[in-house]
Amino acid sequence: MKIIIRIALLAVLIPTMSYGEDKHNHEGNEITVGVEALSRDLRDLLSQEMQSLEKGMMFIIPAYNSGNWGDIETTGGKIKNSYILKQNLTEKQVKELHSVLPHAFIEKDQRFHYLSGMLEHAAKNKKEELINFYFSEMNESCLGCHSVFATHRFPALSSKEKEAEHSH
Ligand code: HEC
Repeated sequence: MKIIIRIALLAVLIPTMSYGEDKHNHEGNEITVGVEALSRDLRDLLSQEMQSLEKGMMFIIPAYNSGNWGDIETTGGKIKNSYILKQNLTEKQVKELHSVLPHAFIEKDQRFHYLSGMLEHAAKNKKEELINFYFSEMNESCLGCHSVFATHRFPALSSKEKEAEHSH
């Protein structure tokens, strides 16, 4: 999803992006409309991307337990450069993402990719504690994005979002 980040940076500079800002200020379930408003193709790509992420995360657990730092480094790197969206987007789809996804989504995506880069780096240096730290931060980041943008898919997370609002 790295491409989304680049698009986002462009989007921030373009005033017509006010749509995204409005979404940002509203309730969690209204923001969800941003993702749900994506065309079938893009939605399928997002879904594939998510499934790859899940596989990657699950792959890391036994690799960590057996001290297989090399595999973690490779997986962290793959996640960082995320495969699918980057490879398959047409210009039209780029424009669509540009206008549909709220800025907060992009920020969370960006943060997630930063963390996977850090995981890759920690694995490269064979720093077990840091690997564990960044893996756990990534996990947190999955949940953090889902509880705002994917409550339609993971309804159990919608209450978490409300709690977060109250504690602020
Ligand atoms: C920046 C936001 C964001 C981050 C970060 C994120 N997700 Fe998601 N994820 C979504 C959204 C939005 C959906 C719902 C997509 C839809 O409804 O089409 C989703 C859906 C999913 C699904 C269901 C896919 C399907 O359609 O079957 C899985 C599995 C998943 N995510 C796993 C993960 C894992 C594992 C991580 C972390 C390693 C993660 N996601 C990080 C936004 C995110």
